[in-house]
Amino acid sequence: MTRTPVNVTVTGAAGQIGYALLFRIASGQLLGADVPVRLRLLEIPQAVKAAEGTAMELDDCAFPLLSGVDIFDDATKAFEGANVALLVGARPRTKGMERGDLLEANGGIFKPQGEAINAGAADDIKVLVVGNPANTNALIARSHAPDVPAERFTAMTRLDHNRALAQLARKAGVSVADLRKLTIWGNHSATQYPDIFHAEIAGKNAAETVNDQAWLENDFIPTVAKRGAAIIEARGASSAASAASAAIDHVHTWVNGTAEGDWTSMAVVSDGSYGVPEGLISSFPVTTKDGAWEIVQGLEINEFSRGRIDASVAELAEERDAVRKLGLI
Ligand code: NAD
Ligand code: LMR
Repeated sequence: MTRTPVNVTVTGAAGQIGYALLFRIASGQLLGADVPVRLRLLEIPQAVKAAEGTAMELDDCAFPLLSGVDIFDDATKAFEGANVALLVGARPRTKGMERGDLLEANGGIFKPQGEAINAGAADDIKVLVVGNPANTNALIARSHAPDVPAERFTAMTRLDHNRALAQLARKAGVSVADLRKLTIWGNHSATQYPDIFHAEIAGKNAAETVNDQAWLENDFIPTVAKRGAAIIEARGASSAASAASAAIDHVHTWVNGTAEGDWTSMAVVSDGSYGVPEGLISSFPVTTKDGAWEIVQGLEINEFSRGRIDASVAELAEERDAVRKLGLI
């Protein structure tokens, strides 16, 4: 293989998502079966030993595409030359804890990481923030990376998107492969809005096909929006393998493009589309091509959807104001 390896930096590498994620990256599922990768793992000093253990296991898999693993406890070094950065390391929500409580605890992590990305990442850097509160953590990192184009900072709502696909497929008695154009709007939180009004089931409008407003309001939307909490309740720990899988999907789609006639959900910097204030990192329907994303334009937003999008976006604006007050942006 003659291709130069792509540098993939993963923070929180010794955590539970990290453990589910690294092996899939190294096997080629993040970027493609012909793309060699070099992993650069960032952890806090106390967790470096555990990351070393994971690196030993990565060695033991003998992945042909894995050209090396470096472990750091220094953000500046970890992001040097990074082409893709997966910002996973953060404090996960535990039972009874609201996501808002996480703002202060996690905000401090993403400022130095944004600075480190600004200082040393490769020109084509693509950042996915997974660590919660993901949208606002991405906003913090972005605001400390003034030399990096704003569109390179994204946050993950692909897990919500995938959860919504699974719920809709079950309701309609179809395979997820039959579904297109589903959208998650807003924040990766309980206010998010999974929208099926533009979605399609085997080419037909999903909302009309399902035709069950009570299910939509009382079952589908709350099930998707509160799924993170339900997993925590059931597992005693936040989602890990599904979150890692969604992170793989997010970057793979960003790099390799959305399918013709479909789109995905990504939290990206708003340009004011659909009334979302410019600069907020909010989830939208996006298409991707040649490593760039674009917000799908021209969708008609009905009154039902409008209220829910506005509520989630209002929460994002509150989070932005809170981190601004804390001096984090
Ligand atoms: P975890 O506690 O198992 O692992 C987190 C890891 O991050 C730990 O190993 C910790 O040492 C490390 N870490 C902490 N601060 C760090 C720093 N400054 N630099 C580098 N590493 C650091 O948590 P997890 O279950 O892997 O979850 C990670 C994050 O992902 C949490 O914030 C969780 O809420 C979030 N999450 C997001 C989604 C989503 O859909 N966006 C889904 C699931 C989980
Ligand atoms: C999830 O959606 O599973 C995670 O974001 C965990 C959480 O705190 O909700």
